[in-house]
Amino acid sequence: MADLSVRFAGLSLRNPFLLASGVWGESGDSLAGAWAAGAGGVITKSIGAVPRAGYPNPTIETYERWGLLNAMGLPNPGIGEYPREIEVAQRAGALVIGSVFAGDATEFARLARRMAATGVIAIELNLSCPHAEGFGTEVGSEPEDVEKIVRAVVAEVRVPVIAKITPNTSDPAGLASAAEAGGAAAVSAINTVRALAIDVHLRRPVLAHGLGGLSGAAIKPIGLACIWQIYEAVSIPIIGIGGIGSGQDALEYAMAGARAVEVGTAVAFDGISVFARLPRELAGLLDELGFARFEDAVGAAHTRV
Ligand SMILES: Cc1cc2nc3c(=O)[nH]c(=O)nc-3n(C[C@H](O)[C@H](O)[C@H](O)COP(=O)(O)O)c2cc1C
Repeated sequence: MADLSVRFAGLSLRNPFLLASGVWGESGDSLAGAWAAGAGGVITKSIGAVPRAGYPNPTIETYERWGLLNAMGLPNPGIGEYPREIEVAQRAGALVIGSVFAGDATEFARLARRMAATGVIAIELNLSCPHAEGFGTEVGSEPEDVEKIVRAVVAEVRVPVIAKITPNTSDPAGLASAAEAGGAAAVSAINTVRALAIDVHLRRPVLAHGLGGLSGAAIKPIGLACIWQIYEAVSIPIIGIGGIGSGQDALEYAMAGARAVEVGTAVAFDGISVFARLPRELAGLLDELGFARFEDAVGAAHTRV
């Protein structure tokens, strides 16, 4: 049976499948559930400095099996309340990565320090939510801003810092390089792709916020292209995200350059039991293709034969 364990950026995981931020990880119990189901690690909902209600409904539109459009507006209880949820997940044995969002480098650094104090194994910076005014893509679209934010956070915490990069840019590799220059231990990509749904009867956008972010199978080729470009531009590890719902999807991401992957929409569609199925499928496929270890497949598609 192929070895699925992965080591990168100071992290050591039993398999490369991480619960992606925001889709299932709001409470400590849901994080613990994903861990118990078999995830290699779990990432929290993005947490801000103060409680935030998010946008009014509707916040989600579902497209059969191929995608999900959302504009939740980063609802979260704030860093004052959230540590107790992390503690619940940690008590269940889960390896927790804390996701944070903020409006500038100073706020990111302050928040990251409080998140690090909870004992998370790493911090993921949300530099890429496409629909939250003043946050996410709005602070993560320029390389100078990304470098400055990452540098400020790295100076403040001892745990590995992962910069989550937006696909809503002409140069994702440039943003990843900026994160590397700022001292990031790893980059993750992609967040959702800016998108819109229209209701012709109401003559208005379906979501209350208007614009949203697309996730799920529809964005897999976009995620793969970003990972491919980032792999050629940086030497820090990359975590692949976007439409991963099978062992083969994960292997495609690995061959494009990802050392681990995050799974979001597949969990929303199929439940947390995906974390039992995905490692099984991946191990079977690696055996079939003659890879002894998942890590041997990383970047394999870049090697010219
Ligand atoms: C309902 C929903 C909420 C999300 N919330 C967050 C969030 O709080 N922080 C974040 O960094 N990404 C968030 N994301 C983006 C996911 O973590 C992931 O990057 C994206 O959905 C692509 O992966 P997928 O196709 O496997 O879902 C959210 C996605 C969805 C669908």
